[in-house]
Amino acid sequence: MSTHINAPEGAIAPNILLPGDPLRAKFIAENFLEDAKCYNEVRGMLGFTGTYKGVPVSVQGTGMGQPSLSIYVTELFRFYGVQNAIRVGTCGAVSADTQLRDTIIVNAACSDSCLLNQRFGSLHFAPTASFPLVKTADSIAEKMGIRYQVGSVASSDFFYDKNENWKKWAEYGVLGIEMESAELFTLAAEHKRNAMAIMTVSDHILLGGQTTAEERQTTFTNMMKLALETIVAVNAKK
Ligand code: HPA
Repeated sequence: MSTHINAPEGAIAPNILLPGDPLRAKFIAENFLEDAKCYNEVRGMLGFTGTYKGVPVSVQGTGMGQPSLSIYVTELFRFYGVQNAIRVGTCGAVSADTQLRDTIIVNAACSDSCLLNQRFGSLHFAPTASFPLVKTADSIAEKMGIRYQVGSVASSDFFYDKNENWKKWAEYGVLGIEMESAELFTLAAEHKRNAMAIMTVSDHILLGGQTTAEERQTTFTNMMKLALETIVAVNAKK
């Protein structure tokens, strides 16, 4: 039992998917997991545990932004023994080589957030995804035949950013802007766990354009399959 997740010890699997939207967590549980049971309803931040191809998997909403994700992921790592955490979410593309609906396997996350400064002061930590997860996801995405890239995102504290920081990130090869991955990778480093993020490009900040709700649903399915198959593969390797 912890403050924001009201579940007994053992109710959450060592493998977890982390969508920002709690209703996405419900969708994933209902459409991809077998025998899924809801373990958390505190603040409407739904969490479920079930199995995928026989492997125990949980799915937990994190809310939007790094401070919200930080609360849930800290509790998952500290109190529930989560080992493999994969964020599944959307980002706005800032690279001309990236198209709407593409999948991005995130290997690193820059950030404009004060969270990194508060932890590291004048040092500059590089929030990085777990290489075994990235390597496994890369080979599965290739087999799936989907359009995807492996690269970096920037986790912003702003959705509506008057400073247009994305232009600077784009100059340095960042593929997309989202709001959570840097804190997930930093917490995983602190707790010696494995984390990665997979993004669907929902809008294009550089070139303009947005996906429809229906399109998001289909491409979202690719991302979910990729995340779940990655979990199955890394569990099989043990
Ligand atoms: N900015 C920040 N986060 C996002 C965006 C964006 O354009 N699109 C999806 N998540």
